[in-house]
Amino acid sequence: MAKSPSPKKHYTWVISVFLPLFLLSIFLFNWRSRSLHPSVSFYRHLFSQTRSPSPLSNSSLHQELLSPYSPVEPSDSDVDGSPHSDLISESEQNPVSNVPPVGSVAEKGGDLTTDSLKKCDLYMGTWVKDEEYPIYAPGLCPYVDEAFDCQNNGRPDSDYLKWRWKPDGCDLPRFNATDFLVRLRGKRLMLVGDSMNRNQFESILCLLREGLSDRNGMSEIHGHKITKGRGYYVFKFTDYNCTVVFVRSHFLVREGVRINGQGNSNPTLSIDRIDKSAKRWKGADILVFNTGHWWTHGKTARGKNYYKEGDYVYPKFDAVEAYRRALRTWAKWIDENVNSEKQLVFYRGYSSAHFRGGDWDSGGTCNGETAPISSGGFLNNYPLKMRIVEEVIKEMRVPVMLLNVTRLTNFRKDGHPSVYGKNPTGGRKVSTRRQDCSHWCLPGVPDLWNELIYASLVFQQTISTSYT
Ligand SMILES: *[C@@H]1O[C@H](CO)[C@@H](O)[C@H](O)[C@H]1NC(C)=O
Ligand SMILES: *[C@@H]1O[C@H](CO)[C@@H](O)[C@H](O)[C@H]1NC(C)=O
Ligand SMILES: *[C@@H]1O[C@H](CO)[C@@H](O)[C@H](O)[C@H]1NC(C)=O
Ligand SMILES: *[C@@H]1O[C@H](CO)[C@@H](O)[C@H](O)[C@H]1NC(C)=O
Repeated sequence: MAKSPSPKKHYTWVISVFLPLFLLSIFLFNWRSRSLHPSVSFYRHLFSQTRSPSPLSNSSLHQELLSPYSPVEPSDSDVDGSPHSDLISESEQNPVSNVPPVGSVAEKGGDLTTDSLKKCDLYMGTWVKDEEYPIYAPGLCPYVDEAFDCQNNGRPDSDYLKWRWKPDGCDLPRFNATDFLVRLRGKRLMLVGDSMNRNQFESILCLLREGLSDRNGMSEIHGHKITKGRGYYVFKFTDYNCTVVFVRSHFLVREGVRINGQGNSNPTLSIDRIDKSAKRWKGADILVFNTGHWWTHGKTARGKNYYKEGDYVYPKFDAVEAYRRALRTWAKWIDENVNSEKQLVFYRGYSSAHFRGGDWDSGGTCNGETAPISSGGFLNNYPLKMRIVEEVIKEMRVPVMLLNVTRLTNFRKDGHPSVYGKNPTGGRKVSTRRQDCSHWCLPGVPDLWNELIYASLVFQQTISTSYT
């Protein structure tokens, strides 16, 4: 603050430097191109939904992630938002910079008027049939564990694989695995959460695998095969010197046990202490968190002799309030331990389950569903827990990008493993009593969550390059 020039001097400086540049750029703009795509800088507004300024702004990590093809240019924040920044597009001037994603947006998006892009909310849209989907072949990716490997487990229908998410106001960029890997070079991407995040983790491994010319160019560094039994996996992509990591943490806060009067041990949850696995979180460049489904399980929902603050175990405590306090504990840890100049934090919102006639543990089913829901009140379900997530994120110092996937999962009653979460080989009879209507078949819905992470990097790149 003390170092910044007086507003007046500053203003004169801006005028004298940028006015000629502005005029020159108008000249170049008119001269060079009739065919210029609608200005890419309109994407600037896409990610201002959770908060502004956008988390992906001006740090060198972010610059690298966002524009891997060109050297980092000093971005000039004075230019931010001024009208001429729309006209000076680096992707126009620099032939090696990453034009294709923008091109594919322009080429696939019907209505690309200024207004429609400005208003584009990536999370409001519909699923449309697309024969080019899925992005990777069903049954062939070795990182999909049995529980999500629906085609190999005998699921007979395949229409559920062929849906692409179409935001109302624009199109997502076509997923480009090679380009994603280039952006991740030298970085560590970490997913932290429950089995729903393991679902997303397996998806991202399969998606990135599509970008390797040598499929053996990735491996789990300890040779572990993914199962639900383990809570920590580190995949290394040799040629790109990057790692993609999963850290299991059901609640993000600390689970413990308490010995009761009868000498039995009972589980507890310390909502004021961060999970033990947090020491691993520190090493990541990009973090993707979630927690949600475990908060509806029996002991968590009942809240009897379970929630703990300090040394005190509450005889009874409200699960919603516990969730709020746990998220605040997480938020505090992020604010104290994450450097927003170097690290990027996503929170992936609640993923909907579709149980008919019961819950996950009481005979609910979803088998036989072969198409998404097309209309109806269910699509508008937005859990209270998500309002709490939004409220907590708003109060944070470190900007967190919300992957607001709840609504788009509401549609997909057809995407769950249902009875196809087990391989029926060896004559094992598949139980139809307990169905999985919370996780997702792979390929499937979590691929989109990762496409949205990719889109957020691509769109933001077009923003940052348009400044320079
Ligand atoms: C952007 O850079 C400025 C100056 O280096 C810094 O004060 C500001 O906090 C940065 N913004 C973000 C969101 O990182
Ligand atoms: C994907 O990205 C790579 C690396 O940037 C690029 O060479 C390739 O042309 C892109 N593919 C498509 C289909 O855009
Ligand atoms: C690989 O990335 C790490 C950072 O994660 C960096 O320290 C190291 O120098 C890189 N190695 C190579 C060969 O680029
Ligand atoms: C997330 O999506 C829901 C609709 O499902 C919407 O009500 C909510 O406002 C969105 N949150 C943000 C931060 O955009």
